Amino acid sequence: MGRDFTIKLEPLGEKLRVKENTPLKDILFKYGIEFPCGGKGICGGCKIKMLDGDIPLNREHQQALNKLGLSPDIRLACRSIVTSDLTLEIDQFETFILADSSSFRFTPAEGFGIAIDLGTTTLVAQLLDLSTGHVLDAVTRLNPQAEFGADVISRIEYAIRNAGLSVLQNLIRESIAAMVNKLIFRHKVAVTKVVIVGNTVMQHIFSGLDLTPLSAYPFESKKKAFYSFSPEELKFHTEINAEVLFLPSLGSFVGSDILAGILATRLHQSKKYIALIDLGTNGEIVVGNKDKILCASTAAGPAFEGTNIRMGMRASTGAISSIRDNGDGIKFHVIGNEVPKGICGSGLIDAIAVFIKKDIIDVGGKIKDNTDHIELKPPVIISQRDIRELQLAKGAIAAGLQILLDQLEITHDQVESVYIAGAFGNFINIENTRRIGLIEFQEDKIHKMGNTALIGAKMSLFLDEEDIEPILAITDHVSLEMIPDFQDLFADKMMFE
Ligand code: FES
Repeated sequence: MGRDFTIKLEPLGEKLRVKENTPLKDILFKYGIEFPCGGKGICGGCKIKMLDGDIPLNREHQQALNKLGLSPDIRLACRSIVTSDLTLEIDQFETFILADSSSFRFTPAEGFGIAIDLGTTTLVAQLLDLSTGHVLDAVTRLNPQAEFGADVISRIEYAIRNAGLSVLQNLIRESIAAMVNKLIFRHKVAVTKVVIVGNTVMQHIFSGLDLTPLSAYPFESKKKAFYSFSPEELKFHTEINAEVLFLPSLGSFVGSDILAGILATRLHQSKKYIALIDLGTNGEIVVGNKDKILCASTAAGPAFEGTNIRMGMRASTGAISSIRDNGDGIKFHVIGNEVPKGICGSGLIDAIAVFIKKDIIDVGGKIKDNTDHIELKPPVIISQRDIRELQLAKGAIAAGLQILLDQLEITHDQVESVYIAGAFGNFINIENTRRIGLIEFQEDKIHKMGNTALIGAKMSLFLDEEDIEPILAITDHVSLEMIPDFQDLFADKMMFE
């Protein structure tokens, strides 16, 4: 039996007793430490500072620290084990979780319903009175699977390589059950329906479906199938007598969160063309109307969520989230009004738009004075590589949209409204997304719509499968990689012109 050691966490003031050789990864996640690269030691997102005591370094850990340019008192939690008493300084991330309080049209029904947005990063559950459509309560949580990587690709890898599907499935099912049971316990109401929406990977994990087809080209997913569960198998409160439904995915990486977005924007009922853009890790896009809907996911990469960006982070405390240049100097906004720790996607878009305007970055994305970075608010910088990452992401989205428009034989001008979905979309400066060529529609057509996945999930509480099936019937998934012009278009759209 190993010895016990004490770990103090600052500034939380928490004290833990742990066994010798316990990996820090196992204990720090619940205190806000995240593992964006899934513990590969390449992102630095899990860094902690040793205030007292020492965590011994092996060669790999030392090399990772050197590569990331971190100081000697820093360790990567994903590579650390406990061998002595420690005092650690950890950042507490307050991730912005986007709930929703928008109103929508519905036909009143009896009983109560719970709508759940199962995101890669965050989980939101809202309890609704189905007779009034009012949201009575909401609970939010971080997705506990984040311990195994920030993005869907890391989760797929963990599920396949480490035979970890059941681990991920149990984690998410336990979290969802805890959220549902909390709502039922607080309100003691008879829930008759639960609707869950999420991206394709989250749907596969929750439902226990094989992820292998999603791990390699042509990235086939179980599409257009409803999955239903009994409250007992999900360990929901024993008094709940509800139908639990996971809405269908639309194909490949376009999941039921996007189907919910179609419902939320009423795209499927519109005579005019509407576009829906979700700028998450995969960058899902939809264009269509009541007769025909096309959707696609772009390999936009995680740049918008701060991953693969040298000082990137999600939109949480300490992130530079917006940058403005009003002619009297550049102004930075840092979430939480703190000393900046990094930059999130909206800040990166602003930074590049501002530096293009100031002629510091050229149309090809190169920093003009031949340095490899631009200083923002100390200690935050953006590097030449960060600009390239953003170009890849914005090139993929803009090219994907162009392909969908071409296939519908329409132009940007024929699209009546463009809805930007998701937490990230909420922060972005529309003018700057146009300036960098990420979204090439007229500014007055572009609307931020918030959490369309949750809005659509709530609307689905009032619908039957037969109400949703017609949407599936007119929706086609387009595999962008199969389109011969895609690569050329992608290269064109990477330019800042
Ligand atoms: S370096 Fe530890 S999770 Fe990425």
